[in-house]
Amino acid sequence: MAQQKRPPNSRGYYVKMKLLQKHGRPHHHHHHHQQEKNCFYRYYKWVLWLSLSLYFFTSYLISNNNNHHTKKPSHVSRALIQSNHTTTPQHALNSPESLKKLKVFVYDLPPKYNTDWLTNERCSKHLFASEVAIHRALLTSEVRTFDPYDADFFFVPVYVSCNFSTVNGFPAIGHARSLIASAVNLISSEYPFWNRSRGSDHVFVASHDFGSCFHTLEDVAMADGVPEIVRNSIVLQTFGVVFDHPCQKVEHVVIPPYVSPESVRDTMENFPVDGRRDIWAFFRGKMEVHPKNEVRTVIWRKFNGDRRFYLQRHRFAGYQSEIARSVFCLCPLGWAPWSPRLVESVALGCVPVVIADGIRLPFVSAVKWSEISVTVAEKDVGRLAEILERVAATNLSTIQRNLWDPATRRALLFNSQVQVGDATWQVLRALSEKLDRSFRSSRVSRQLDFDT
Ligand SMILES: *[C@@H]1O[C@H](CO)[C@@H](O)[C@H](O)[C@H]1NC(C)=O
Ligand SMILES: *[C@@H]1O[C@H](CO)[C@@H](O)[C@H](O)[C@H]1NC(C)=O
Ligand SMILES: *[C@@H]1O[C@H](CO)[C@@H](O)[C@H](O)[C@H]1NC(C)=O
Ligand SMILES: *[C@@H]1O[C@H](CO)[C@@H](O)[C@H](O)[C@H]1NC(C)=O
Repeated sequence: MAQQKRPPNSRGYYVKMKLLQKHGRPHHHHHHHQQEKNCFYRYYKWVLWLSLSLYFFTSYLISNNNNHHTKKPSHVSRALIQSNHTTTPQHALNSPESLKKLKVFVYDLPPKYNTDWLTNERCSKHLFASEVAIHRALLTSEVRTFDPYDADFFFVPVYVSCNFSTVNGFPAIGHARSLIASAVNLISSEYPFWNRSRGSDHVFVASHDFGSCFHTLEDVAMADGVPEIVRNSIVLQTFGVVFDHPCQKVEHVVIPPYVSPESVRDTMENFPVDGRRDIWAFFRGKMEVHPKNEVRTVIWRKFNGDRRFYLQRHRFAGYQSEIARSVFCLCPLGWAPWSPRLVESVALGCVPVVIADGIRLPFVSAVKWSEISVTVAEKDVGRLAEILERVAATNLSTIQRNLWDPATRRALLFNSQVQVGDATWQVLRALSEKLDRSFRSSRVSRQLDFDT
């Protein structure tokens, strides 16, 4: 938690942060070289040559990393702490005017609410990790402000999906409500911004199955509903359906589940998007999931013997290459309607076959879902082969052309630093459409009304 409730002079504060960043960075190379010279004084020339090569090699590595973002997030907690001091924009957020003006304050919560959980490496990588990824990306984003009085939105970074069960490895989110309540308690007593708006300009992430209901079982989730404490706020959630549902009775943005952009990039190196696709229709996953939901069972029973279908029930680490080799990727509902398969299919250029009645898909303003996917009603799943054959015979190449547009494939991936058009960028764009909730913007417009 920041020591001062209001930086006495926000500009000064900002400048101090910049200065810290500039002078706080140790000069590794010099130090290194100095030591080498002492040790190998007699081999001066040789050392000079070595140092120079080392220097050029390192600067090559550094610039290369910056340009292509090939760097793996080696150690997340360190990245978070470093980015703590940074406001440097990585990429201009060049588009909607409202997005350029958008300002987001990120609460600096004690680590028990977020970074402590990162000691488990899965926390920043598994399918619910958008809660981590969005936080991380915001810290270095151009929209971040260190002056809360200058903010339109307040991001509350609480990681609730990283308490993995020792029994089955699934995230246990039983503590989610109390952890969030405790965080809200903290920020509402230490800062004036929560009370001022009753939380309506505050943003949370709910990246697990039933989103803002914070429970993994649908019936319990529905009975519990959205916790009172966030009911006024904005929730970024993976869950979304077109019909009435208690788990979306809150201002929200539907976001994709997390898929590591590095894993996608690694797969694409061996399997380019327009490469050979020797699998016609692909699905890997549990075939019986939910007693209520027969879809996967029907797929298995009906198409397992069919040579056009490649269906696998067991986990396989290399499954992304299978997606990249497939023409159609089946995305039937599981416990929840959404699934990471959707993101991986799009990112790897396999036409997603969405079999989840009423699902509401993420970022509809950026991803023209009807042009890049095939939707099959749950009741029609028995006719799957026939439906896909017709698409293959008519408009498959149109769909693939739309799908393979890099802008589409980028929109569902959360990078560790915001990139124009990526998933965090889409979140910011969605927030910029909710500026009517911004206390600052409403104050500015009230001021304008008054002036005229
Ligand atoms: C930000 O930096 C402060 C001081 O260096 C540190 O105490 C805090 O944990 C950091 N916050 C994050 C989110 O890294
Ligand atoms: C994590 O989940 C376990 C149950 O799997 C629970 O006993 C424990 O209290 C949870 N941890 C926290 C910090 O809530
Ligand atoms: C916000 O409201 C709560 C409950 O009324 C109160 O306990 C808290 O002190 C208030 N916070 C501030 C900063 O005034
Ligand atoms: C492809 O054809 C199907 C009917 O076979 C149609 O429902 C769908 O909208 C078409 N998609 C595109 C992108 O043209």
